Amino acid sequence: MNNILTIDGPSGVGKGTVARLMAQKLGWNLLDSGAIYRAFALVVFDSGVDIADEAALAEVASKFDLSFKTEAGSELVSVFLAGKEVSKNLRTEKVGEMASKIATIGSVRSALLKRQRGFAQVPGLVADGRDMGTVVFDKAPFKVFLTASADERAKRRLKQLQAQGTAGIISQILEDVQRRDERDRFRKNSPLIPAEDALTIDTTDISIDEVIEKVSELVTKTKA
Ligand code: DC
Repeated sequence: MNNILTIDGPSGVGKGTVARLMAQKLGWNLLDSGAIYRAFALVVFDSGVDIADEAALAEVASKFDLSFKTEAGSELVSVFLAGKEVSKNLRTEKVGEMASKIATIGSVRSALLKRQRGFAQVPGLVADGRDMGTVVFDKAPFKVFLTASADERAKRRLKQLQAQGTAGIISQILEDVQRRDERDRFRKNSPLIPAEDALTIDTTDISIDEVIEKVSELVTKTKA
């Protein structure tokens, strides 16, 4: 399957929004790979498996019962663990932090690889995460890497929280964003780096519409 657009970047950069809008525009499937890491983090909390026990973690990662459901005609994806909906439990900072920790372990990443590649279905796929263009879909023809200053990303996170009716403190959010960046960028396994053939877009001072325009241009230009 050759219709794959990868969108990688650090936390809070707006990957999820760009991926959703591009999937809508192209009529392609959507993979939020962070949701897989976050769902696995929930399983780790619930199962009480020791996060220092890599073999046990990899075993759980290869077996846990995860499914996604997309509402017909919308890009809203619901996430289920063992048939129970957990979509609303995934987005907390506690879960993001645990996801980032277990994501450093190579055997866990390998165990989650097949699930992610399974999303590459016709007519196409838009996949967002940290290593979509470098590892999971390294042969994808369309690759984007989004960046924005840490201050701007913290501001966007705060807005997102406020829209959900949750309070947040900007200095705390900035600290969380920077800590997670550091771990995701400097880990040994599949670190957050742009693929050599990715188009990097700094989104600090541009609108979401402008980002969509640049990504759409890349897809059209590369296809032509
Ligand atoms: O994109 P996110 O914030 O939902 O991801 C949560 C964590 O999961 C992130 O800090 C690192 C990890 N992750 C990863 O290592 N590789 C991916 N492709 C997606 C997420």
